[in-house]
Amino acid sequence: MIRSLLLAAGLLAAAGPALAQTAPPAYRSNCQACHQADAKGLPGQFPRLNGRANQIAATPEGRKFLMHAVLFGSSGRIVVDGKTIIGVMPAFGRLSDPDLAQALTYVSRLGGGKAPAAFTAAELKAARADQLSSTAVSASRVRLLEAKQIP
Ligand code: HEC
Repeated sequence: MIRSLLLAAGLLAAAGPALAQTAPPAYRSNCQACHQADAKGLPGQFPRLNGRANQIAATPEGRKFLMHAVLFGSSGRIVVDGKTIIGVMPAFGRLSDPDLAQALTYVSRLGGGKAPAAFTAAELKAARADQLSSTAVSASRVRLLEAKQIP
């Protein structure tokens, strides 16, 4: 079983962009319970990432925010798709840089448009060194929202 799973994972990796929409294991085990299998979220509870993360990832500041949000968490009151969400995005700094890079690459390539560059482990490593509090991440979200870099 484990062997065939590993084999399947290897085949998916080898298939490259054609199968880029397949959720990586890191997303399935850590993110899907809240953000849902297709990353469309649950209105009023968990923000939709499908079709939003791609827009956020379009600027360097947005990419940083996405990495900071998964590494350090974020919380507070946000409005997504016209619905208020008061919730907590847990910090996932315990996951490896490659795992987080895969999860973010996955969500940022959903929803069409120009596919942003893949998140790399090196990029995650650099963002991890910023060591922000979740409060600081939420504050950076407010700034990006004002700059219209978050839909
Ligand atoms: C326990 C539920 C939960 C889990 C598990 C979870 N999230 Fe979240 N996520 C949230 C909530 C709630 C928010 C909104 C937080 C806020 O109010 O700022 C959020 C916000 C985000 C954001 C920022 C979206 C925005 O518009 O500000 C990203 C990106 C994100 N999550 C990605 C992930 C990824 C990737 C994973 C897996 C590694 C994950 N989340 C796991 C609940 C969750």
